[in-house]
Amino acid sequence: MCGIVGILGTHQVAPVILEALKRLEYRGYDSAGIATVNAGHLDRRRALGKLVNLSDLLVHEPLAGMAGIGHTRWATHGAPTVANAHPHRAGRVAVVHNGIIENFRALRSELAAAGLAHESDTDTETIAVLTRHYMDQGMTPTEAANATLERLEGAFALAFLFEGEDDLMIGARQGSPLAVGHGDGEMYLGSDALALAPLTDRITYLDEGDRVVLTRAGASITDAQGRRANRPLTRVRLDQATVDKAGHRHFMAKEIAEQPAVLGATMAFHCTPDKSALALPERLDFTACDRLILVACGTGYYAAQVAKYWFEGVAGLPCETDIASEYRYRQPVLGARNMAVFISQSGETADTLAALRHVRGHVACSVGVINVPTSSIARESDVALPILAGPEISVASTKAFTAQLMVLLLMALKAAQDRGKLSAQQVSDHLQLLQTLPGLMRAALDREPDIAELAQGLAGVNHALFLGRGPMLPLASEAALKLKELSYIHAEGYASGELKHGPIALIDETMPVIVLAPRDSLFAKTVSNMQEVLARQGRVVLFSDRAGLAEAGAVPQSLAMPEVPEMLAPFVYAVPAQLLAYHAALARGTDVDQPRNLAKSVTVE
Ligand code: AGP
Repeated sequence: MCGIVGILGTHQVAPVILEALKRLEYRGYDSAGIATVNAGHLDRRRALGKLVNLSDLLVHEPLAGMAGIGHTRWATHGAPTVANAHPHRAGRVAVVHNGIIENFRALRSELAAAGLAHESDTDTETIAVLTRHYMDQGMTPTEAANATLERLEGAFALAFLFEGEDDLMIGARQGSPLAVGHGDGEMYLGSDALALAPLTDRITYLDEGDRVVLTRAGASITDAQGRRANRPLTRVRLDQATVDKAGHRHFMAKEIAEQPAVLGATMAFHCTPDKSALALPERLDFTACDRLILVACGTGYYAAQVAKYWFEGVAGLPCETDIASEYRYRQPVLGARNMAVFISQSGETADTLAALRHVRGHVACSVGVINVPTSSIARESDVALPILAGPEISVASTKAFTAQLMVLLLMALKAAQDRGKLSAQQVSDHLQLLQTLPGLMRAALDREPDIAELAQGLAGVNHALFLGRGPMLPLASEAALKLKELSYIHAEGYASGELKHGPIALIDETMPVIVLAPRDSLFAKTVSNMQEVLARQGRVVLFSDRAGLAEAGAVPQSLAMPEVPEMLAPFVYAVPAQLLAYHAALARGTDVDQPRNLAKSVTVE
């Protein structure tokens, strides 16, 4: 997703904005640019590709000025080109934007009829042209920006800069997050606190519909109804250690390696100090709950599908899972005793946020399972449960996935206790088992060299199948997603028992079939399915424990995983899923932390 930085500074801002944009690279982008006002003169530089290209341009064509806005663009309307890169400018106005303006074509036609042409294919340029149009009619910059904002439909986080205004910046938030940073004699705007971390830890998060007029003296915020609004100033501590690679080659490698520690910390946070009982918010009460709805996108959705086995199997609670982008359009039936859970690492995914807003007032309780406690989903849910994974910089989600599983499993134990399915002692016994998880994760991570070797066999393929049964089925889907998004290999997760109903036609000696199968109650059936593949020369790679490998007999390739209790298998088997994709990506030379076309937080529908 696009990244926004704005600075009303007391020093030259272009280099500082460039550094701040680098902290937003993880969001994914394909072009970047900066605009500044220097002694009233508005100017800009834009470049295609990585920020290093913009940096080179600034060396040859420096940008002066102590007021500026910067942007990393993840293309929505219009191909990645310099002409489509932000900031967009029209006359005295420059603007940067994250989101989608849904009525921009109608506005563009209206402006063309008024003789105002566009230079780019973007919706964002229309914002600049419309604001200029209002200024040409005599409005002040603030009046013109407000008049423009009244006309926009869709999602946007915006920052405006104006020729002749060295101490003015205007921001607006609708559907995409935007934060105000408070400096010493300086003021900032940013897509998130991470971008502003080197500049300040004093952050004010704008609410939905807020607008802000910044000068170096401070921020004047108005709400969606145009009333003055006082939003809390929070101190957001992001030390350097949380946002560098800590000696790893990639953020993804670091974040995979962090999982044992993260899972221990996440569990500790949501349990009593001696970890003998749960310590979840009282509002999270399943006693009267008659149905649970789990909604998410991507990796979060696969975490939801794993959790469904726990909520139904352990707590006996009917549970449905939905892809957020489909959810509200299928006219879901909601009940007053339902609980809806929205799982999102960023807490800003537009589809998931829209699904949360769809259920508001129609269910007993909405719960956000999030990694960013200040995010929109966290703030708009009745209950926000942090997963405490720490900043996840790599676009491919890894530690957030297993931390989401941890929170969801603790929720399922709470549901079981509230519904009388488990006694307090039985919950305590489960928690004792959960405390073995960090060690099991470390044991799985210790197999990285063997997993890396298996991954070499994937580097040259164009297709792959992942098979699983029970909770291993969503794991197979998550493993396929990791391989797709990191190495650009087409992959599918499939139910082992479903293969013979069609997809087995795909099997030949060129098709790798990776089977994730701890020796559990379904193992014998999985072995039968695997034999069906082997009989057709499929290239089976079996991940199981030693007992499973012994029972399965000869397979072309296999890897012995640690013995794990059935309930913990989804956590532990996430490690080979992640590492296979990581090493396949290394072998194929793709951009591991910022794969092509992807964004870390998808704040557009
Ligand atoms: C997962 O590796 C992907 N990066 C993507 O599917 C991601 O899980 C999805 O976009 C949801 O993001 P969220 O958890 O921030 O809502």
